[in-house]
Amino acid sequence: MSISYVSFLHLGDVHYPDLISRSPLVDHKDKGLSTATVGAVSSTRVADIARGVSRVLKEEQNLVAVVITGDLTTKGDVPGYKECVTFLHSALQLSDEKYWQHRRLLVVPGNHDINRSAIVAGQPLQDKFRPLSQAWLDVCGSDRTLTVGVPTPTDLPPLGTDNPSIRFLPLNTCYLCGEYRAFPDRIRNEVRRIVDEVKSTVSTDAFEKMLSEQIDCPAVAREHVEAIEQHIQESDPNSVSVVFGHHPLFAQPMPRIDGYNEMLNAGFVRETILETRKNVVYLHGHIHQDPLLTVNSPMRGAHRIIHVSAPALEDGFNLIRIYFSSETGQPLGMELVQHRFGDHLGLVRQEPIKLRLIEQTELWNEIDQPWVDYVLSKLTSPQNVLRFNELLRGVPPALKVNEDQTAQTNSLVDALIILELLEIVKIVNRDKAPKVWQCQRKII
Ligand SMILES: [Fe+2]
Repeated sequence: MSISYVSFLHLGDVHYPDLISRSPLVDHKDKGLSTATVGAVSSTRVADIARGVSRVLKEEQNLVAVVITGDLTTKGDVPGYKECVTFLHSALQLSDEKYWQHRRLLVVPGNHDINRSAIVAGQPLQDKFRPLSQAWLDVCGSDRTLTVGVPTPTDLPPLGTDNPSIRFLPLNTCYLCGEYRAFPDRIRNEVRRIVDEVKSTVSTDAFEKMLSEQIDCPAVAREHVEAIEQHIQESDPNSVSVVFGHHPLFAQPMPRIDGYNEMLNAGFVRETILETRKNVVYLHGHIHQDPLLTVNSPMRGAHRIIHVSAPALEDGFNLIRIYFSSETGQPLGMELVQHRFGDHLGLVRQEPIKLRLIEQTELWNEIDQPWVDYVLSKLTSPQNVLRFNELLRGVPPALKVNEDQTAQTNSLVDALIILELLEIVKIVNRDKAPKVWQCQRKII
C-alpha cells in the first residue's frame, strides 16, 4: 500500500493592530542605540510570522488551503481589518499564481471584526459583516475568501488528482455578536422616563442604545448548521470534512469571567456534527490558547470530532496533514504540526501530534504486510534505535523485486507512517527528510 497526504494551514486570531505594535524580538538594554541599529540585529513577530508562513507555502507541495478563523482586527477597527487583509495579501503572496492556482484562502469573521458602533438595532443580522466583505473586495478584487452567510463546501483534492480530498466548511459563529439586549419590560418604562430627561441632548440612535446593551453573543444561524450537516452527509465517503469557525464548541480550559462565554448553540452544533456519524475536524480560534480535543459519543458510534484550536497568530500557527490510502482512498490519519515561537529562537516546528482517522483494526487491513513485517523484525525493542538509511540498506532481496531505490524508499516510509499511526513505532526528526529519521519500537 502507498500513502498520500493533503495539508492545510490554520491561522488563529491575527489582531493585526496589536500584532504590528509588538516590540522587536530583542533584549533591548542599551537605549542609546538607534532604531536602525537595533533593527539590523533583531526581528519582529509580524516579520517572523510572514517568513514562517511563506516558507510553508513554498515547501509544502501538497498544501491546498490556508484557513483563518477570524479576529483579523481588534475592537471592530475597520481600517485595521483592511490593513490586515493587505498584510495577508502580501505575506501569503496571494497574487502569485505559482502558489495559489490550485490553493484557496478561506476566512470566517471573529467577534472583534465587528464594528459595534455601526450596528443599528433591528437591521438585518448579516449587514454588520458588509465592511469586512468590502475590505476583501477592495484589496483582492473578490470577497469569495470570506464566508458570512450560508456555508457552501470547498472540495480540494491534492494537486493534479481528483481524489482523495478535503471538504472545507466555513461557519460564521458571530451572527449575534454586537446585537442589542434591552432592559426587561418591567423596568424599561421607568428607565425610559429617567433617560427621557436627557433625550434632547443625544441622537435618536444614542437614545435607543441607552435603553439597551450590546452583547457579545456568539451563535450560529440554525440554517447554517443545517447546511453544514447536509454538506457533511453528502460528502464523498473518502473525503474528510473540516468545519471552521471563530468560537470553540467547548468552554476554554482557563476560567473565563465574562458574559455569553460560549456559543449560544454550541451543544446543538456539536450534536448535529456527531449525528452525521463521520469523523470531522473542527478548527477554531478566539481563546488565544491551543488545546486539542477529540470528542466522541458512544451512543452515536466510534467516529469523533477532532477539535483543534490555533493560538493567537503572534504565538504561531498550525499545519495539518491528512493521510490517505492511495489504493482505497480511505483517510487513515491526521498529523498536527504546531509552529510556535520559542523564547528567543523565532518560530519553531514542534514534534507532530498524530491521530488515527480509522479504527486500529481497519488500519491493519491497509498494511502492506511484508514491509511492516520487515520493519518490525528490525525494530525489536524500545532500546533498539535505527536510522532510516540503516533500515533501507537492510531491505531483504525478496522486497526489492520490481522496486527500484525510490520505490523501496517510499514503501519503507509508508510502512513506518502506518506503524506510527498504530502507535507501535516512534520516529524522531519526523518533520525532516526520511534520511535523518531515527526509528524506535514503542511497544512489543
Ligand atoms: Fe481574539
